[in-house]
Amino acid sequence: MQKNKDNSMFKASWTYNEAPESTDHIQIKKKYDLYIDGKFSKPIKGKYFDTLNPSTNEKIASVAEATSEDVDAAVQAAKKAFESWSKLTGKERGKYIFRIARLIQERAREFAVIESLDGGKPIRESRDIDIPLAANHFFYYAGWADKLAYAFPNRNPKPIGVVGQIIPWNFPLLMAAWKLAPALATGNTVVLKPAETTSLTALKLAEIIHESGIPKGVVNIVTGAGETGAAIVNHPDVGKIAFTGSTNVGKYIQKATAGTHKKLTLELGGKGANIIFEDAAIDQAVEGIINAIFFNQGHVCCAGSRLFVQESVADIVIDKLKNRMETLIIGNPLDKNTDIGAINSKKQLQTIENYIKIGLNEGGEIYQPDCNLPKNGNWCAPTLFINVSQSHRIVQEEIFGPVLTIQTFRTINEVVEKANNTPYGLSAGVWTQNGAKMFHLTQKLNAGVIWGNTFNKFDATSPFGGTKESGFGREGGLHGLKPYVKFD
Ligand code: NAI
Ligand code: MG
Repeated sequence: MQKNKDNSMFKASWTYNEAPESTDHIQIKKKYDLYIDGKFSKPIKGKYFDTLNPSTNEKIASVAEATSEDVDAAVQAAKKAFESWSKLTGKERGKYIFRIARLIQERAREFAVIESLDGGKPIRESRDIDIPLAANHFFYYAGWADKLAYAFPNRNPKPIGVVGQIIPWNFPLLMAAWKLAPALATGNTVVLKPAETTSLTALKLAEIIHESGIPKGVVNIVTGAGETGAAIVNHPDVGKIAFTGSTNVGKYIQKATAGTHKKLTLELGGKGANIIFEDAAIDQAVEGIINAIFFNQGHVCCAGSRLFVQESVADIVIDKLKNRMETLIIGNPLDKNTDIGAINSKKQLQTIENYIKIGLNEGGEIYQPDCNLPKNGNWCAPTLFINVSQSHRIVQEEIFGPVLTIQTFRTINEVVEKANNTPYGLSAGVWTQNGAKMFHLTQKLNAGVIWGNTFNKFDATSPFGGTKESGFGREGGLHGLKPYVKFD
């Protein structure tokens, strides 16, 4: 395949037919303040940090750094707002949530462009997946707001109070929606913190939330890094913490909340097994493998990062996979043809590169397509490792990048044992044309989400969450309401 030598944008020549998404009419401020008690206000200590565009490492904007004093102001605003918000009828609460959903739809393009600029993901994904799913999540939980008595029959569900929500950088707006929508539908008030590398769509969401007319203090959005997150976790007036992020921080939060009144849900890392049987539709399975590991540069907690292929079809699957990888387009996240965008931060790129070194040192055989990576910014070629085994660190540990390990198997029992041999239990995928085998596997695999003949499919109606070190609690669907209510 011919390759474009232009470093700024790597492309296979036959798809070069569209210009990058324009940033005209996209409003990005130079400086963003905190959203507390229905107002945008400066942080008390006056500190700001930079958010960068990971495809160039150029600064996009300054973002306020909330200290514990700011977090306290946000919690007090939420506590005060709870008094009346929790007494509104579900129908009234639902109206505001519907309004937020509609406003996201109206501004979808703006959200998609900012998401890709600030976080590095391909615009096609922000446009077709992240933003529509975020709107859907608000629509879906708006619908539940006046039906809680049906969700929990005869149990008289009540809101908890002020909830603290801390989200990661891989699906910034979508994770904000996953957290806010069920919390508001059930009558709680919120202090939410986006991740420090990707605050901009949460701040845009704050503008929309403001526009929705929701009473002041119901939603507060504070920005900052780990210390800001810890101030939320440790605040005595917070009744529940919902966290998505690394297993290490999850463990820290679990310790910090142990023995307190605080309820907790954790959605942590993963090392999903993607299992291809010899009777699978091979071409579809190959597409599924690509989507499972290269979607969002592999910055996906439920990524299918461990591939298991039945021995009889291993050669053909690996050949087809390599051919398909040759066609992947890596480069400008704002280009509509891009398949793989920029790695979210320099720090994450270092983590991934370090794992690639570890894989090589441990004797893995690497394959990367021949591609010109752009010069500036954070980039990683899609990567496969074969000749690896269960004991290799790249098979055991979450890499959170576009790096796939491939192992083979002969029998069902063997692959079940290998797939479950991990501290994580978030996701798995099974590819077979045999329905009975599919159902058998879904019983045996220890994972919160199991996809059949597909991967990385999300829907607001469907619960999502992990087992083992991948965390506990569910988000999405009816299950997603439960962490936000208490019973008499
Ligand atoms: P992280 O867990 O540090 O960041 C997630 C969120 O937690 C961010 O908003 C961050 O500001 C906040 N945070 C950090 N320290 C905190 C603390 N002590 N108390 C409260 N909040 C805190 O994730 P990081 O360091 O950016 O990524 C490291 C690794 O974590 C990745 O390589 C990946 O393996 C994993 N990860 C998993 C995610 C998932 O969706 N399961 C998301 C992000 C990272
Ligand atoms: Mg950024």
